[in-house]
Amino acid sequence: MDRDFTLEVVRVTEAAALASAEWMGRGKKNEADDAATKAMRSMFESINMNGTVVIGEGELDEAPMLYIGEKLGTCAANTPEVDIAVDPLEGTTIVSKGQNNAMAVVAIGKKGSLLHAPDMYMRKMVVGPAAAGKIQIDDSVEKMIDVVAEANFKRVEDVTVIIQERERHQAIIDAVLAKGARVKLFGDGDVGAAIAACMPNTGIDLFVGIGGAPEGVISAAAIKCLGGDMQAQLVPQNEEERERCCNMGLADPEQILLIDDLVKGNDALFAATGVSDGELLPGVKILGHNIAETHSIVMRARTKTIRFVRAMHDMEHKAIILGK
Ligand code: FBP
Repeated sequence: MDRDFTLEVVRVTEAAALASAEWMGRGKKNEADDAATKAMRSMFESINMNGTVVIGEGELDEAPMLYIGEKLGTCAANTPEVDIAVDPLEGTTIVSKGQNNAMAVVAIGKKGSLLHAPDMYMRKMVVGPAAAGKIQIDDSVEKMIDVVAEANFKRVEDVTVIIQERERHQAIIDAVLAKGARVKLFGDGDVGAAIAACMPNTGIDLFVGIGGAPEGVISAAAIKCLGGDMQAQLVPQNEEERERCCNMGLADPEQILLIDDLVKGNDALFAATGVSDGELLPGVKILGHNIAETHSIVMRARTKTIRFVRAMHDMEHKAIILGK
C-alpha cells in the first residue's frame, strides 16, 4: 500500500466526521449518517487509486453511495487496486443522542485482502500485542483474564474487559465481575472499543462480545496495524443469513475466523476521525470563528506506524463537506 495514501485517507475520515458532527445531538441519525456518507464519498473521488467498496453502506439497491461493489478513486491506469471498507459514521445513534464514542472510519487493503463480511452479527475477541496468540475465542472469559493479567503484568483485580452493554452479554459481564476483574461497558461504537483493547495506555486489556460483522473487519485492519490479535465468528440469526455466509465462500458459516482470515497479509491501512469524544480520539470541536478541530488516527500494517493527526478546519472553505 502506497504510504502517500495515509494523509489522503485522513482527509476522507475528517470530512465524514465534520459533516456528521453538524448533526450531533439533533435526534436525527439518518441525516447524520447521510451527511457523513456524502462527504466521505466526495473526498474519495480525488484519490489516485482503483478502489472497490467491499464493506459499505449496503447493497446497491439499498444504498445510493458507498454501496458494496462501488468503484472509488480516480481508477486511472496503473493506480493500485484496493479493497475499501467504510463506516462513514460508526455510532449513528450516538450522534443523534449527542453521546460519546462516534467515529468516521475507513480501512483499505490490497485487492482481495479484506473479508467481504455480510451485514450480520459477529462474535469477537481482541487483545493487545502482549497477549497476541495466547488466547482463543472459545476460551472461557476467566481464562482470558488470567492470560492478559500475566501478559500485561497486572493483578487480575486490575484487568479491565470492555464489553458492549447489551442483554446478550450479561453472562460474560457477570463472569468478569465474579472473577474479580473490572468491566468497562459502552453503549455503541465497538470499533473504537476493540481498538482501545489493543492500544497501550488505555487501561483496557480485553474486548469480548457480539457486534456487527462489518465493524469487525474494519477493527481487524486496525488491530493488524497495532500488532494485536483478534478472533471472530459470524453469528447468523436465521437460514437466510447462513446462506449468505455460504455464498461468501465460508464452507462452515460458524468457523472461527483468525485475524488473517479477516484481513489477509500486511498491506492494510486504517484511519479514523473522532466525531464525539471516545476511548480512542477526541471528537470534533467547534472553536468559534467557523473553525473546527479534528483528531484522527492513521496507521499502516506494514510499518506499524501510528500517527495522530490534529487539524484545524476553516469551515468557510469546506462547502464540499457540508454539502453547501
Ligand atoms: P451503527 O453505527 O450502525 O448504529 O452501529 C453501532 C454499533 O454499536 C456497532 O458499533 C456495533 O457493532 C453494533 O452497533 C452492535 O449492534 P446492536 O446495536 O444491534 O447491538
